[in-house]
This record gives sequence, structure tokens and C-alpha cells, in this order.
Amino acid sequence: MSKTKIKYICSNCGYESLRWIGKCPECESWNSFTEEIIETSPRRANISKSKFSYSKILDILANEEERVKTGLVEFDRVLGGGIMPGSVILLGGDPGIGKSTIAMQAGANIKQKVLYVTGEESEKQIKLRSSRLKVKSDSFFVQSETELSNILGAIKEVAPSVVIIDSIQTTYRSELENSPGTITQIRECAALLMEEAKKNHYSVIIIGHVTKEGMIAGPKILEHLVDTVLQFEGETNYSFRILRAQKNRFGSTNEIGVFEMREDGLREVKNPSELFLSEREKQTPGSVVTSSIEGSRPILLEVQALVTPSSFGYPQRVSNGFDQKRLSILLAVLEKRASVRASVNNVFVNVAGGIRVIERAADLAVCVSIASSLFEKVVDNQTIIIGEVGLGGEIRSVGYIEKRIQEAKKLGFKSAIVPAGNKKGLASDNQIKISFVENLSETIKLLL
Ligand code: TYD
Ligand code: MG
Repeated sequence: MSKTKIKYICSNCGYESLRWIGKCPECESWNSFTEEIIETSPRRANISKSKFSYSKILDILANEEERVKTGLVEFDRVLGGGIMPGSVILLGGDPGIGKSTIAMQAGANIKQKVLYVTGEESEKQIKLRSSRLKVKSDSFFVQSETELSNILGAIKEVAPSVVIIDSIQTTYRSELENSPGTITQIRECAALLMEEAKKNHYSVIIIGHVTKEGMIAGPKILEHLVDTVLQFEGETNYSFRILRAQKNRFGSTNEIGVFEMREDGLREVKNPSELFLSEREKQTPGSVVTSSIEGSRPILLEVQALVTPSSFGYPQRVSNGFDQKRLSILLAVLEKRASVRASVNNVFVNVAGGIRVIERAADLAVCVSIASSLFEKVVDNQTIIIGEVGLGGEIRSVGYIEKRIQEAKKLGFKSAIVPAGNKKGLASDNQIKISFVENLSETIKLLL
């Protein structure tokens, strides 16, 4: 006999409790507990069979399987070369970022059969979107459905190579008493989809919405379950989007894909540096260019700073695309080690184009842009600036220096400021003048 019981589950990390709690002891998010009905049936391991199957690893024959190419080169690259048959991919992102669009574009490009299941739009709405995207594939099937057994039924009939579920939050199993979107539903649906996919050897792309903290709702549980977690991100007021792999059983997690949202869907951006530098003003104080490694690719970015006198006692610090805490640290280092007293002023830092830089290699560029704005002196716009800044004001070496310099050369930059520690990793070059720097005050004197 199965019994039902009520439990409270954190919708962020899946922590279970018998009472409602305001703050999750596991992931520390507030107000995340929801009531869920749990069926408890007595479970006992069944090992009464007499024959079991196992093999020596050397006896198993397996070749790298033929991946399903989506034809979207950037999408395939992030996946590690296409969709692995039988794999389950979670595609997360903010509402309106373009998840349905990228999934449909990728699906419509696949030569094999694809079933696109939507619980968010009617077939008519899907049709409208597909005309916008100029979908012409005759192996692309659409089902407007939310109940999982009906979905699995359609999968059986269509026998597709790839199934797209848009979205996991609208999908539910009618056998469960919880409403769609609850942790139990999400977990159970995803688990069943996964099981069926592995058994019948088709791939599933599961679309998941992200909560405002940037987590895929019911996230941790799904992240453990699936083979690949992709994150689709970007600022809604900019047209470009970035696809990142957060987890990938069949490829590297470093790759990113860059897209631009157009009237007629997403377009791949082959050379992101050009895009990010395209609107750069000729010579303005506070503007410098750095090179950030995104995945295995270098991308050149413009860092802008604006330093203004503060009329109130407490100066403002605002940064877009660069870590705010890191900015405070750099301001302190600038003041103490390079006598650049920007900390009594308002300081605004912006990475142009809306991209986010997580890399420390952008530190030096941020420092120089602040000094440049404070002193109202321009930095030569044919120079790129690379380096991590330590608390002592020393410039620390960074990875992939050769790649960064190559990218700068490709885009016609004439000189580069590079950490002295990177000297040995660099072949001398007559196309670009490289200046090696050891500390912050020396760099600022050199450039301004
Ligand atoms: P959508 O894929 O519906 O986002 P999600 O599934 O992540 O919620 O994309 C929504 C946005 O994309 C919407 O604001 C309109 C815009 N868009 C375009 O600009 N061009 C297009 O061709 C399409 C299909 C959408
Ligand atoms: Mg959508």
C-alpha cells in the first residue's frame, strides 16, 4: 500500500523538511519552501533474480557515436560537436531571452526527425514563430501538450531522434497530485524523460526557466540528472546572446557561442570582437580595450569608466559587467599603490555591449580606464591592456597570452601592455609592440 505524506521542499536546491521553514539551511535562500505531496510506498530491493549482466570493460565495444549536428555551428560547438544520441540537455535562461527560438532553429536544422513539444504556446503561435524563422524542414513535428504520458505517446509514434520539451515547468504527470512546476513534478518528469530517452536512444532538450537569482527553478536536482546544462544569457536590451555550457558530460564546459537576436531569429556571430568593439568612439578618456578569454576564444572588449566628483558624502560605485566587489578592491589598490585618488569620487564602470567579464585579466584595463577618466587623458586606442592586479599593485601574469595577442593583431591593434611574468610565453613580434609591465603605477605613468 502506498501512503501519502506532506513534505516541504526547497524549490531552489531540493532540501526536504517536515515543517515549513523561511530560510533554507542548505542553500540559504529565503521563502523557497513549497508544500509537496510525497507518496511513500514501502520499497525493498529486489535481488531474487538468479542471472545478472555485467561485463569486463575491455570486452565492451563502443565507438564514438555519430553526433547529431544542428547546423548551428555555435550551438554544436558548445555541445562539444553536436548532440550526443541518447543524451539529455537542459537549456536554461531568463524568460524572453530566446530559448524557444534557439531550440526551434536548432531543431529545424537537424536532418533527422525532431519533435518539438510546447506547453507554453498553441500550435498556431508556434506556426507564426516558425514562419518568422523561415522553418522549411519537413521532419520537424510540433505537439502542443503538457501531460507527460501524452508526450511519451507522441514520441513513440513519431520516433524522433531529438525531442524538445518547452518547458519542464509546464510539463506534468497526471499520476502525481502536485501541480505543474513544483519540485516533485519537475523531478519526476525529468527523470522519466531521461529514462525513456536512454532506453529508446533519442536525445532530449529540456527547456527550463530560471528564477530571478539566476538559478534554473528546481535546478540542482535537474543539474545532477542531465548530461549537459546549457545557459542562455544576455541582457534583454542588447541584441546579442551568449550560450554557455555549465556542465557537459560529452564536451568541454569552456566553450561559448555568441548569437545576435534579429527580426528573423538568432544569427551566429562569427567574430565577436568586431561586434563588441564596433561602437567604440575614437579617443575618449576612460575607454580602454582588453582581451578576455571566453571558452577557448579570446574576445576583445571595451572597458569604460567615468569618474565624477561626488556631491554627497558617500560616493557611488556602479559597475556593469564587472564585479562590484572587485571594483572596490581595485579602487583601493589604485589609491594606495599608484596614488590615483578616485575613491572620493563617483566611479562608474561599464563593459560595453553588455557582456560580463569574470576574468581577472581585465583588472589592469579597469584600473587604467579609471585613471584615464580621472585625469581626463586618453589612452591610445590602438593599445590593448592585459593583466591581473594584485593587492600590492603588482601586475600578475595571465593565461593564454599568445591567443589574446593574436586576436588583437587580427583586429589591427598596434601595441599591447602585458604582464612581465608573461614574457617567456611570448615570441617577439614585429607587427605589434609589446610593453611588459611589473606594477600599476609604472603602467599608469607609461600610458597617461
Ligand atoms: P523566446 O524564444 O520566446 O524566449 P524564451 O523562450 O526564452 O522565453 O524569444 C523571445 C524574444 O525574442 C521576444 O522578445 C521576441 C524576440 N524575437 C526576435 O527578436 N526575433 C525573432 O525572430 C523571434 C522568434 C523572437
Ligand atoms: Mg519560450
